Amino acid sequence: MPSPILVEHPLIKRHVTELRSTATAPADFRHLVSRLAALLAYEATKDLNLMPVEVETPMAKTTGHQLSESIGIVPILRAGLGMVEPVLDFLPSAEVWHLGLYRDESTAEPVEYYSRLSDGHPVDVALVLDPMLATGGSAIAALETLKRWGAKRTKILSIIASEFGIQRIAEESADTQVYVCAMDPILNDDKFIVPGLGDAGDRIFNTYPTE
Ligand code: PRP
Repeated sequence: MPSPILVEHPLIKRHVTELRSTATAPADFRHLVSRLAALLAYEATKDLNLMPVEVETPMAKTTGHQLSESIGIVPILRAGLGMVEPVLDFLPSAEVWHLGLYRDESTAEPVEYYSRLSDGHPVDVALVLDPMLATGGSAIAALETLKRWGAKRTKILSIIASEFGIQRIAEESADTQVYVCAMDPILNDDKFIVPGLGDAGDRIFNTYPTE
């Protein structure tokens, strides 16, 4: 069972600090999510498999490398959308598949509202993007969908995770590798991460639903 990888870097720590702050406006929040997603993607792609490929330079023919696995980038709507572009920059030939899930406010259980994966041809490696991993319910539902589809390897890239959510993924999706920028200790009675950063989707899209 892979241990969760806490991606540690001074820039990650300062970006996460600014991301948490209530003083951070939506435009800055989006930039920070994007930078952190890039740093996570760098770490999460370190073990992608390669195969040799011939390349002709202006000077000679030589043998280089190309990816030997198909990669799927899978943002969980909505908040995961904020992480797509920087990851796609690293992996321009990746496929992007969207999964729509929201947390029912009264039960904190995930509700799936969008899933259109291809018939056949599942990707070899699925990179699930969601800035927040609280109870882990949304991530586990996404992982179940991707495994039913036939994805061979699954990874989750999340900016802030609760220790509870990480533990739950280890128990219920043991072969999934989790990459996070910060692990927070508390999940409060409303199942929000504390200290966390609030609702990532609302902060990215500047939407604050009224009661
Ligand atoms: C948030 C977040 C995750 C989920 C985490 O989404 O982006 O998808 O909650 O909670 P969990 O680990 O307990 O399932 P939300 O339901 O607020 O939807 P949104 O992205 O559309 O705002």
